[in-house]
Amino acid sequence: MATLLYIESSPRKDRSASIQIAQTFVDEYLASHRGDSVDILDLWANEFPPFTGETINAKYAILNGEKPSEAQSRAWRPVEILIDNFKKADKYLFSLPMWNFGIPYKLKHYVDILVQPGYTFSFTPEEGYKGLVTGKPVALVYTRGGAYKAGTEAASLDLQKTYMEQVLGFIGFRDIRSIVAEPMLMSTPEDKKKIIAAAQDEARKMAKAF
Ligand SMILES: Cc1cc2nc3c(=O)[nH]c(=O)nc-3n(C[C@H](O)[C@H](O)[C@H](O)COP(=O)(O)O)c2cc1C
Repeated sequence: MATLLYIESSPRKDRSASIQIAQTFVDEYLASHRGDSVDILDLWANEFPPFTGETINAKYAILNGEKPSEAQSRAWRPVEILIDNFKKADKYLFSLPMWNFGIPYKLKHYVDILVQPGYTFSFTPEEGYKGLVTGKPVALVYTRGGAYKAGTEAASLDLQKTYMEQVLGFIGFRDIRSIVAEPMLMSTPEDKKKIIAAAQDEARKMAKAF
């Protein structure tokens, strides 16, 4: 039985459009995948280990094949636990609003924890960089205040979807599916409802076949 890890990155809870759409995905997923389970990681309900000097020293010690000091190991352990928990899942769902053209800083912090040599990617001079999280699908629900459709002038400002696809691709994901709900702030309340409803329809279809 598979586990879907759902990573939630808007702090707006009941008022969040990305959470509302992702919740539709989760409900449909559970209804159509009897026996599977969903683990929810609310990024705002967690304090992640800060990237202090010791944490980064631990990272470089491991990268250079050296034994980390006791202080470095202590700083590194929570990072390892978070990476293990992430890698344990079989499938992934992210929901995320655009913040200043990119992603919320809590999600960036989580990405900085996950993307580690020897854990989620490897490097050899012969093969270059290789992602280590392979053979698993990921779905992402994006919301934005404005609109950044491909082919428009605003598309180049989208550092939200392009960044997530880049970084997930780097650690090995090849099956990356997305739902984009926009423009959430530049719409009338009626149009906003329609945009959310259309995204929820997409979420149901995607979840069924996930
Ligand atoms: C701190 C912050 C920064 C934002 N920056 C952008 C932005 O750069 N571009 C944009 O189109 N919308 C921006 N927005 C609007 C959100 O992306 C939009 O309202 C989205 O629907 C919020 O999703 P949520 O309801 O799931 O939190 C920003 C919102 C916040 C709170």
